[in-house]
Amino acid sequence: MLNIILCGAPGSGKGTQSEFIVKKYGLEHLSTGDLLRREIASGSRFGKQIDAIISKGNLVPDDVMLRLIDQYMESLPGDTKGVIFDGFPRTLNQAIEFEKMLAHKQTSAHLIDLHVDEDELIKRLLLRGQTSGRADDNLETIKKRLVVYHHQTEAVSKYYKELEKYHPVNGTGTIQDIFSRIEAIIDNL
Ligand code: AP5
Ligand code: MG
Repeated sequence: MLNIILCGAPGSGKGTQSEFIVKKYGLEHLSTGDLLRREIASGSRFGKQIDAIISKGNLVPDDVMLRLIDQYMESLPGDTKGVIFDGFPRTLNQAIEFEKMLAHKQTSAHLIDLHVDEDELIKRLLLRGQTSGRADDNLETIKKRLVVYHHQTEAVSKYYKELEKYHPVNGTGTIQDIFSRIEAIIDNL
């Protein structure tokens, strides 16, 4: 299995680039943000709890996320080529537990890290916020999400650097240019 973690700050283009990767390489796509937003849209009690967390820009607890990922992995058909994990893992603990899960399946993951300046991230998210309807696309929550990213998610990149499965990518420029940089990495894996 080819497992790719698409990592990067909020607005770095994880969702955008995932679509291109899925089309070219025939991988499954799991966006944990989309998964959680679907749960919120369902109006369930669990969804309401998640909504309170996401709209403040905080992370959903690790045990909840790991349970969802475990369920997702079990639901994959046996002939799956691989998965793009968009927005997961997001804490060091999630990364360590995730690698244990993959090891059970005799596989592991590579991390592609999209680098984008903070000014550009804020610009992109405010623009998207005009139409996205996402409760976290407002300046106050965007700033909180960036702080959470630096404090909790950067450790994931460091972990994959230590595993020598880390691939940084310049995430600015046209969407096509960025995808070409990603293709060069995936073709090498
Ligand atoms: P999540 O949905 O993952 O949000 P995020 O990380 O904040 O990232 P975004 O989805 O906002 O941005 P993106 O990187 O996908 O960029 P996109 O392609 O959309 O998570 C939301 C929340 O869920 C978290 O805050 C947390 O609460 C919770 N959560 C999720 N996973 C979790 C986990 N594992 N553990 C705990 N909690 C979790 O692009 C952004 C915009 O820019 C778009 O409008 C796009 O059109 C535009 N754009 C893209 N590329 C370019 C380009 N090259 N040039 C110009 N514009 C561009
Ligand atoms: Mg996204």
